[in-house]
Amino acid sequence: MCGIVGYTGNEAAAPILLDGLSKLEYRGYDSAGIAVFDPESRETAVVRAPGRLLNLVQKTDGGAAVPGNCGIGHTRWATHGEPTEANAHPHHSAGDLVIGAHNGIIENYQELKQKLLRHDYTFYSDTDTEVAVNLVDYYYKKYNIGPIDAIAKAMVRIRGTYALALMFRDYPGEIWVARKDSPLIIGLTDDAALLASDVPAILKYTRTVYYIDNLEMARLTPGHVTFYDLNGDAVEKESTEITWDAEAAEKGGYEHFMLKEIHEQPKAVRDTLGCYIHDNVIDLSATGLTEEFMRSLERLYIIGCGSAYHVGAAGKYIIEDLADIPVETDLASEFRYRNPRFAKNSLMIVISQSGETADTLAALRMAKERGVPVLAVVNVVGSSIARECDYCMYTYAGPEIAVATTKAYSAQLVSIYMLAVRLGRLRGVLDEETYAADIAEMTALPDKMERVLEDKERIQWFASKFANAHDIFFVGRGADYAISLEGSLKMKEISYIHSEAYAAGELKHGTISLVEDGTLVIGVLTQKDLLEKTVSNMTECRARGAYLMGLTSYGNYFVEDSDDFTIYVPKAEEHFIGSLAIIPLQLLGYYTGVARGVDVDKPRNLAKSVTVE
Ligand code: G6P
Repeated sequence: MCGIVGYTGNEAAAPILLDGLSKLEYRGYDSAGIAVFDPESRETAVVRAPGRLLNLVQKTDGGAAVPGNCGIGHTRWATHGEPTEANAHPHHSAGDLVIGAHNGIIENYQELKQKLLRHDYTFYSDTDTEVAVNLVDYYYKKYNIGPIDAIAKAMVRIRGTYALALMFRDYPGEIWVARKDSPLIIGLTDDAALLASDVPAILKYTRTVYYIDNLEMARLTPGHVTFYDLNGDAVEKESTEITWDAEAAEKGGYEHFMLKEIHEQPKAVRDTLGCYIHDNVIDLSATGLTEEFMRSLERLYIIGCGSAYHVGAAGKYIIEDLADIPVETDLASEFRYRNPRFAKNSLMIVISQSGETADTLAALRMAKERGVPVLAVVNVVGSSIARECDYCMYTYAGPEIAVATTKAYSAQLVSIYMLAVRLGRLRGVLDEETYAADIAEMTALPDKMERVLEDKERIQWFASKFANAHDIFFVGRGADYAISLEGSLKMKEISYIHSEAYAAGELKHGTISLVEDGTLVIGVLTQKDLLEKTVSNMTECRARGAYLMGLTSYGNYFVEDSDDFTIYVPKAEEHFIGSLAIIPLQLLGYYTGVARGVDVDKPRNLAKSVTVE
């Protein structure tokens, strides 16, 4: 959701900015732009284009038409105003003294705009960013102060979220940044400084990065960065070395990142399990959780958005069953605005791939304000959620580029399994034998996931058969319902086919009225005490014309008596089989999207990381 890049050094900036923006395309955007200072003409050229980045690449001749060694770039996901050229970033202040790009939302931009209008400022766009850029310009001129003091004054007045990259006409070759709640990293080489919303944009140039904190600013010059607090005092920061393999953020021969990431799931799960299971024992000490604390817990709240919420939905069934602790699961966007009655001795678990999702971060902060400790299950090291939580359980999925999550979801799911089993053993719900058997079952998952992936041609064939479907319903009960939710989300996200997941028992309370001749109903059938009930519900749909697909484990061959097409996954312990069942559904969504010609890695209107409300 909006991507920012910046470069100052000895090289031509524009091609580096365009390359960086291409690495941030996954975040979702609908227009793009760059601003580059040309030392020859002493002018800063701003070039912007609506639509795909390719339009901007063509307009700038791959960057060659915009000379200079210092610049900023932006991919915009429209919030204030349509995705037009006028609204695309970077924006300039009236008089061109300050040029800036911004990720986030300035909530009080109308009020600030009125103030600036009273001081004779004029505006050419609908954006909140133009207001922010002019506000900095206003303080800069009014008090005749340097960029840091002017930005700090603006930050005090701005309500909302921002990662802001600015260039001042009076400071050629320098980039100034400020951050509150929107992701931003700074990278350094010997002779250049870079900034970006995410690591893949700068990985080609450096692995040395700095995480800028909330309400901090920085000044970038070639090879140097200085950080400042809101008082304008310089602050010291340690750099972090990125350990990712640069290839991790490339397609590596696959047609799409999504397909590559689906295939990386056995590794993501193996790596995540391997981090917390040593010598057949689950060791969560790296998260900071102590045994005494875990034993004392009386209630858990699992919060997330999108697929992360679906992990929580599965977690409720699994943790309640294995650890005998009441679990409440909620969407972060709902949770943050209700008034939850936190029970004593409770723990909030927030789940997030990016660690930057605005609603999840807000829910985390609410819990902390109310004295409830927070465990984050998070993939991106150094992200806001990772830094603000009390306990951090990293997932080891590696960089995930496709908008629709797959491997991060799977890594989150096994993290919840480990938590459930560890809690269950500590609280005496699981005896030593069951505990050992559960660990063996979890450890066997990656190999079984590989076997599921081997069967992908059948799913590809089935996807092409239903590529013109209007509606698809996913049904299941218990943990199968949680998997249905995720399967349905994958389908609608990347195929644009209307799809819903229903608790199978709810079908008769309304949804069945939507079933007509040929409607595809997919049943997730892995829970032995529940699957026959779901099969009955599916049969009722068939009586109304539905085409039935069953997803079950080897051995449940009787399912074929009732459905039209059956997908099997290897047998596994019921609490953990969701990790296998989800893969055919991800593949189904993927191949359906491909058959319909959708840009599956960057589906319309969606963003990888939703950093605004
Ligand atoms: C977006 C992504 C989803 C993701 C959700 C939560 O909607 O497209 O794939 O599940 O955000 O993101 P998070 O980074 O918090 O896991």
